[in-house]
Amino acid sequence: MEVEQVLHMNGGVGQTSYANNSSLQKVVISTARRTLEESITDQVYCNKVVFPECLKIADLGCSSGPNTLTAVSYILDIIEATCQSLNMNKSPAFQVFLNDLPGNDFNAIFRSFSSFYERLKKEKGDKFGPCFITAMPGSFYGRLFPDNSMHIVHSSYSLHWLSQVPKELVNNITGEAHNKGNIYISETSPPVVFKAYLNQFQKDFINFIRYRSEEIVPGGIIVLTIIGSTKSDSPKSIWEILGRTLNDMVKENIIEAESLDNFNMPLYFPNAEEVKRVVQEEGSFSVQKLNAFEMAWDAGFPTAQEDDNTNNEKHKRGKYVSDYMRAVAEPILVKQFGETIMDELFSRFAEKIIESMAQEKWQYVNLVISLTKN
Ligand SMILES: C[S@@+](CC[C@H](N)C(=O)[O-])C[C@H]1O[C@@H](n2cnc3c(N)ncnc32)[C@H](O)[C@@H]1O
Repeated sequence: MEVEQVLHMNGGVGQTSYANNSSLQKVVISTARRTLEESITDQVYCNKVVFPECLKIADLGCSSGPNTLTAVSYILDIIEATCQSLNMNKSPAFQVFLNDLPGNDFNAIFRSFSSFYERLKKEKGDKFGPCFITAMPGSFYGRLFPDNSMHIVHSSYSLHWLSQVPKELVNNITGEAHNKGNIYISETSPPVVFKAYLNQFQKDFINFIRYRSEEIVPGGIIVLTIIGSTKSDSPKSIWEILGRTLNDMVKENIIEAESLDNFNMPLYFPNAEEVKRVVQEEGSFSVQKLNAFEMAWDAGFPTAQEDDNTNNEKHKRGKYVSDYMRAVAEPILVKQFGETIMDELFSRFAEKIIESMAQEKWQYVNLVISLTKN
């Protein structure tokens, strides 16, 4: 499976779209806002980096939906406030690049530009900008921009996606799958599985840093938010539960065992040390901040309706989690298991989530990393 060809979130604005099922990711972007703000203002106030005539900003893995311009909007707010506090009578101009893989629903993004420009004009007036937004399709594991051209690069919930499923998950002599019955690192995965995932993450992340180092000006910033883990080989992830749901469907002959045995998600949730080590090994950036915060699986769930009884509420929360996982994982799962099982898979998955959430309060770790180019 060529990840770059297959990977994208569910497009459009329908019931199962990412646009309609990304409130959790919105909470993540707003939680990371403070780190973004501190990273920008530290450069201006502490390190005396001055704004160029045209500030070039990129959001990598922007997807499509209400979150696409959220981080960009935060960055513009932060720059506006900084210009005001410095008594500048005009802000820089802005060129903004929205990046994602070619399968992303870029047309939906283009349709949102005019209302975004209108809002900017109304809220910030004539002394701000102008701002020019464009798309840059392609993988962030390759080059995206000219040498020494970018000032602020942001990415939320994208860098935990790998460029490929680790090749070492299959025995290269016998062809046997090492992670049978699972779709990610899980309690029953042998150590070789964890090692294969970590290797792939290290290879990908070093490439990412190396390419950005060619593109970002000295003093430029990268702010990344990813799903992380506290223990590097921690199997406690929501993907394990999705794997178990697929396994049940194998046992009931709805899915062939072989297609599950040969399938693994191209994801890795590193711990803070693993991230830091790659940045230090590559050497072009300094780590300014590395913050971790925990979130509940159902963060972003709309506050309860008054007439909801506890059972109903639990059910809705389980479905909320299952729906956002579907918006993220469906295209890749359809490629392996076919479209026909998707409704059944995600309705079973929602039930398992409800059971798990009843047993314990599920939280997971997020890492926010801010780097400056040396
Ligand atoms: C969960 S979405 C996050 C979208 C948005 N940033 C947000 O926080 O709501 C992850 C996005 O990263 C993109 N992505 C994954 N790997 C990528 C790569 N190698 N290059 C560019 N985009 C990638 C996916 O296509 C997807 O749109």
